[in-house]
Amino acid sequence: MIRTCLPLWFLLAACGRPADPPAAPAAIADRIRLVVSGSLLGRLEPCGCAGGQLGGLARRLQHLGEQRSHDLLVEGGDLVAGATELDLRKAYTALAVLFDMQHPYDALGVGRNDLALPFAEWCALLQGRPVVATDLRCAEPGWPGVPFVEKDVRGTKVRILSFTVRLPADAPRDGAPVRIVPPVEAYALGLRGADPATLRVLLVHDGDLRTRELVTVLQPKPDLVLCFDHGYTDPGPRPERLDGVPIAFPGTRGRMLLDLTLARLPEGPRLGQEIVPLVGSRTLPGGGGDPDVKQMLLSHREQVRADSVLAAMAEQRPTANGSTYTGSRACESCHPTAYAAWQKSRHAQAWQTLERAEAEPKRYGWPVTAYPDCVGCHVVGYGERSGFVGPAATPHLAAVGCETCHGAGLAHVESDGEVRLGKVGAGTPSPACVACHDAEQSPDFVYGDRWPKIEHALEPGQRRAPGQGAPK
Ligand code: HEC
Ligand code: HEC
Ligand code: HEC
Ligand code: HEC
Repeated sequence: MIRTCLPLWFLLAACGRPADPPAAPAAIADRIRLVVSGSLLGRLEPCGCAGGQLGGLARRLQHLGEQRSHDLLVEGGDLVAGATELDLRKAYTALAVLFDMQHPYDALGVGRNDLALPFAEWCALLQGRPVVATDLRCAEPGWPGVPFVEKDVRGTKVRILSFTVRLPADAPRDGAPVRIVPPVEAYALGLRGADPATLRVLLVHDGDLRTRELVTVLQPKPDLVLCFDHGYTDPGPRPERLDGVPIAFPGTRGRMLLDLTLARLPEGPRLGQEIVPLVGSRTLPGGGGDPDVKQMLLSHREQVRADSVLAAMAEQRPTANGSTYTGSRACESCHPTAYAAWQKSRHAQAWQTLERAEAEPKRYGWPVTAYPDCVGCHVVGYGERSGFVGPAATPHLAAVGCETCHGAGLAHVESDGEVRLGKVGAGTPSPACVACHDAEQSPDFVYGDRWPKIEHALEPGQRRAPGQGAPK
């Protein structure tokens, strides 16, 4: 590929955070430029619950279109975070964006989440894609993984290898005869037939400690290691270096891209890193991003509604406490003060907020009330038995209700409070909140600031002395 804007590219690379002192000018021509993104974890687009969110496939492809001088596009594994019907559809959509559109990717790694998806479907989705799975072996005929992808960039060969390192905790699944090849052996297989001058790029889908261990045992040394540690939500500010090997951390959720330049100099590999936050990303139709990708995402969302995926994914698991959801109204008689406080809070309106968002084409303009991701955080017990199914079937659960935080309450109600709910979130309170108010949905969430807005407690005199239960 011919680089169309070398001066701009060079300027940007120089403004970034180069890992090393400036290179000799002779080396610059040999540098290759990789754009790398971390584990997408199902974040096709930001949810729009808070301002200033980053990422999204539409913004990404727009960026790639504006910055055409990249040589290689690499995506980490773990396209999705779960194994639901929605996750499969998201994986399908993400793959279509990564491989069938304006800027086809050169390599895709495999993470443990990918292997937790229904195996036959996952294999079928990946047919014909450059899926690198250096340390995975599988005897199935439809297995899409290859040990490496090799590209020639202006005469420099680049070989991309990927380690999954471990199988998912609950693997091997039925009919998925995948096994892990030990790293040294896998690495040798992945480099088989490679010219010594070939640049060796290794993706590792595991924690940073395991990645560092691997770097010290692999020979010949990789020229670049990309560590897809989910603990690094955003890219590491600068690449690390271990035994002379640069290690970069692409982060997760596709919020930022790593724009890397790599060359092998006599003294070893030289890496430049620039972090590209994908700003201005919004879910709304007019809000920037590649129009074709947006169309693709819209079709995905419309299809999710048309196929009633929301209802199909409801009531899949037992409730966490074994009881049955009953709705906030049932709590009012004995907890009138708490109920009044809740009714005034935004939580009581969380479903209406989704309905309003959907009706407002300037903000969303797509069926958010039919999209399981959105619904899950805006209702009671979605996915659990007796939990939210839809606004018509379960109107009493269409809010972030009492039982969203305290657990299913029927046994407590029927026993006049004798069957304790227990789950109040006191002690270390914010875990009860950050499941939803996380860094993405609620970036400025501080428990001490927010609890006073929804504060409530037992009625005076309601707590019984130990052993003083209500008469049966
Ligand atoms: C992980 C949980 C979670 C998910 C998933 C989620 N939300 Fe939210 N949403 C929240 C929280 C928490 C808030 C409140 C944020 C705050 O005020 O700090 C919120 C607030 C909102 C608001 C009000 C924001 C405002 O400016 O008034 C809208 C609209 C909204 N969400 C829509 C959506 C849509 C649409 C989706 C799916 C694309 C979605 N949410 C997915 C948790 C979630
Ligand atoms: C957003 C989550 C959330 C919602 C919604 C919520 N609560 Fe709570 N509730 C809490 C937390 C957290 C505490 C504990 C706070 C503390 O102790 O500082 C609490 C405390 C309580 C207590 C006192 C517990 C004790 O032993 O002191 C009662 C009673 C209670 N909630 C009932 C309700 C009722 C009834 C509703 C609905 C009308 C409701 N809550 C809605 C989170 C919630
Ligand atoms: C018939 C009366 C009654 C109803 C209805 C009722 N509660 Fe209670 N609740 C009580 C009593 C009494 C206590 C005090 C229990 C104790 O301290 O022994 C209590 C305590 C609690 C507590 C704190 C102690 C615990 O159980 O962990 C929470 C939280 C709570 N209720 C939530 C709810 C929610 C949510 C609902 C609605 C689903 C609800 N309650 C409905 C009577 C009731
Ligand atoms: C099940 C997901 C969920 C959980 C758990 C949750 N929230 Fe929320 N919260 C929401 C959503 C969704 C909204 C936005 C509702 C809307 O605007 O319609 C919200 C809004 C709020 C708001 C109003 C926005 C503001 O700042 O004025 C406060 C306050 C709040 N939450 C506090 C808490 C606290 C404190 C906890 C933990 C005790 C908590 N929430 C737990 C989903 C959740």
